Amino acid sequence: MESTSEHAIEFIGVSKRYASTTAVEDLNLAIPDGLITVFVGPSGCGKTTSLRMINRMVEPTDGRILIQGRDHRDEPAYRLRRSMGYVMQQSGLLPHRTVVDNVSTVPRLNGLSVKQSRARALELMDTVGLDRGLSKRYPAQLSGGQAQRVGVARALAADSPILLMDEPFSAVDPVVRADLQRELIRLHETLRRTIVFVTHDIDEAVTLGHRVAVFGTGGKIEQFGSPEQILREPANDFVASFVGHDRGTRRLTFAGADAVPIHPLDSPDRPWGEWELVLDDAGRPQGWRLGDRNITGGSLFRRGQSLREALDSVLSSPSGWGVAVDESGVALGMISSDEVMDATTRERLSRYGVGS
Ligand SMILES: Nc1ncnc2c1ncn2[C@@H]1O[C@H](COP(=O)(O)OP(=O)(O)O)[C@@H](O)[C@H]1O
Ligand SMILES: [Mg+2]
Repeated sequence: MESTSEHAIEFIGVSKRYASTTAVEDLNLAIPDGLITVFVGPSGCGKTTSLRMINRMVEPTDGRILIQGRDHRDEPAYRLRRSMGYVMQQSGLLPHRTVVDNVSTVPRLNGLSVKQSRARALELMDTVGLDRGLSKRYPAQLSGGQAQRVGVARALAADSPILLMDEPFSAVDPVVRADLQRELIRLHETLRRTIVFVTHDIDEAVTLGHRVAVFGTGGKIEQFGSPEQILREPANDFVASFVGHDRGTRRLTFAGADAVPIHPLDSPDRPWGEWELVLDDAGRPQGWRLGDRNITGGSLFRRGQSLREALDSVLSSPSGWGVAVDESGVALGMISSDEVMDATTRERLSRYGVGS
């Protein structure tokens, strides 16, 4: 998945100047197809402006933006906007329309009948985990989390390969926020859209992003890379201090992974299925076998390391199962992504004084 060389969106020397401010200066960035790319940075650094230039809600002053290799000005602005789902902080729902009507607006604009549009809207409510019983409610009758889910459903209704999200979870409380983040990861795994997600929260950025672009003042990219690169090898002092200021990530790095169970290699139920861990004579992991293929890769989780390493290990493993080893590198067993995510969530919640 990560090996694709295709770019969904490309910024080439893009700037946006207002009379008294330069919001974005000479932005060059290639956003990979089918992954979640996060724009993160302090307030006022040009994240929203950059996002809105993609679908021409804001027109660049200079430079070019390519969508799937084509200049985005080839398309009329109204059609471009309609063709990309857009979710913002305040869900942006029409207050005088019911949930189902809000979600079916775009399918209607795209030429589906009222009946077809409603059917599609109800399907999308299922997709984002909203009870169909809420379909006749008005936005004011929803909780913050429900309203954001409706916003996501409405954005998905554009059926476009690209989804733009501007701080969509910033206004909901931390518990609901963690839920929405997990849902988005799950949704992305099923739908495989290209998602550009804006946040000011580095913790949210490294949780959601396959790629993270750290913005500095004036819309300048300070670093673009994987979450691990950003955390481990900050490109400069700005990134280091931005990452370091976030207590969340530091907490994850120091939080113990003791709560994550290690499943023995000889577990009779083999929850990792057809995947075989290949060991050397001393019992140290060498890679994986799937059928007749050898597949290497995946970082090891050494017993006693932090939740951050446990998370790395499951996220980097070809099988989706992290490999736990002892101090001498001998395999102890497997750790599951669900159990690591659960431990990460509990850690997140305990940070806000919620849960056990
Ligand atoms: N319509 C506008 N007119 C003038 N200045 C603007 C306008 N929109 C944004 N800006 C300025 O551009 C800079 C970047 O804004 P924005 O992209 O909203 O930042 P962010 O989303 O990172 O908080 C800010 O200094 C902001 O005040
Ligand atoms: Mg913004």
